[in-house]
Amino acid sequence: MQANKKLLILPGDGIGPEVMAETRRVIEWMDRRRMVTFDISEDLVGGAAIDARGTPITDATMQAARDADAILFGSVGGPKWDKLGFDLRPEIAILRLRKELDLFANLRPATVLDPLVDASTLKPEVVRGLDLMIVRESTGGVYFGTPRGVETLPDGQQRGFDTESYTTHEIERVARVGFELARKRGNRVTSVEKANVMQSGLFWRQTVTALHAREYADVALSHMYADNCAMQLVRNPRQFDVIVTSNIFGDLLSDLASMLTGSLGMLPSATLGAVQPSGKRHALYEPIHGSAPDIAGKGVANPLAQMLSFAMLLRYSFDMEEDARLIERAATAVLASGLRTGDLGGGAGAVGTRAMGDALLRALDTLAA
Ligand code: IPM
Ligand code: MG
Repeated sequence: MQANKKLLILPGDGIGPEVMAETRRVIEWMDRRRMVTFDISEDLVGGAAIDARGTPITDATMQAARDADAILFGSVGGPKWDKLGFDLRPEIAILRLRKELDLFANLRPATVLDPLVDASTLKPEVVRGLDLMIVRESTGGVYFGTPRGVETLPDGQQRGFDTESYTTHEIERVARVGFELARKRGNRVTSVEKANVMQSGLFWRQTVTALHAREYADVALSHMYADNCAMQLVRNPRQFDVIVTSNIFGDLLSDLASMLTGSLGMLPSATLGAVQPSGKRHALYEPIHGSAPDIAGKGVANPLAQMLSFAMLLRYSFDMEEDARLIERAATAVLASGLRTGDLGGGAGAVGTRAMGDALLRALDTLAA
């Protein structure tokens, strides 16, 4: 029997609690079937925490996050909290977790599962078999750069400003994650910036080029401007293996890439920190779909991205590759059986969150029998 693993669950707002409830059933299933036990605690974040405690995330929750072996995050935000002002946004919860736990490498895979090849708005022959990984820097750039603010100019106008900045260290450590991943996949990295316009973009390109020559010459490296990358992702997405890019470009390109796969409701992500001297590595796992306020509370959300985020958690935090695969295979089996939530084009025959959860558990039973 292995030691208990400490899991912090933060469902958040909107569809977060609904899809997390189904994912907890998967966790309980694993608890029952496997030689591993999770110590689970759950807490409020985002709008839910603002309502209950007046802040998007409390210091106590931050401490629990630091103590956890892994964090499973739902989603935050919604129209209810839109007017509270910049310093009381639900989104502060996820941004503070990324920043204070130094979760700098956001892994966003975009894979097209065979049963879903027709769910994409792109032609099947363009997306079939797609398997790309976006490595998005997630503690730097314009998300956190200073100075930032709104100031009043001598002529009475106002001026809003943010700062994009990257240090050598910040670029190298996220690029390393990309190169290491590429070695286990297709061995190709595309580094994405705007070196033709931004000083920090040119610096990014030079820094990645130098690191590559020093440590990763065995990996094929190419460079691409972010606008061209957006176009290439739609034109021929299978040309990519690993994309490494900044916080803001990664935010944009990962939303774009997700729709190649048919639905935002399918894609998980992992956000990893550095391996510490103790061997511990902070890590947070979340679906990339967000809180989807338009469908929240209706029981129709697709729980698969949250479940697949848990699979990534098993893989990256606990080295439980086999168990991660089991969940991924169960998801593929459920989709192959024709079951669809609304986001997957289920139309009139679409099933709800709970039914998708039931089907996933049945598929796990079958696969593990
Ligand atoms: C994401 C989201 C977040 C981001 C928001 C909720 C702050 O869009 O994880 O991609 O911009 O990083
Ligand atoms: Mg985003």
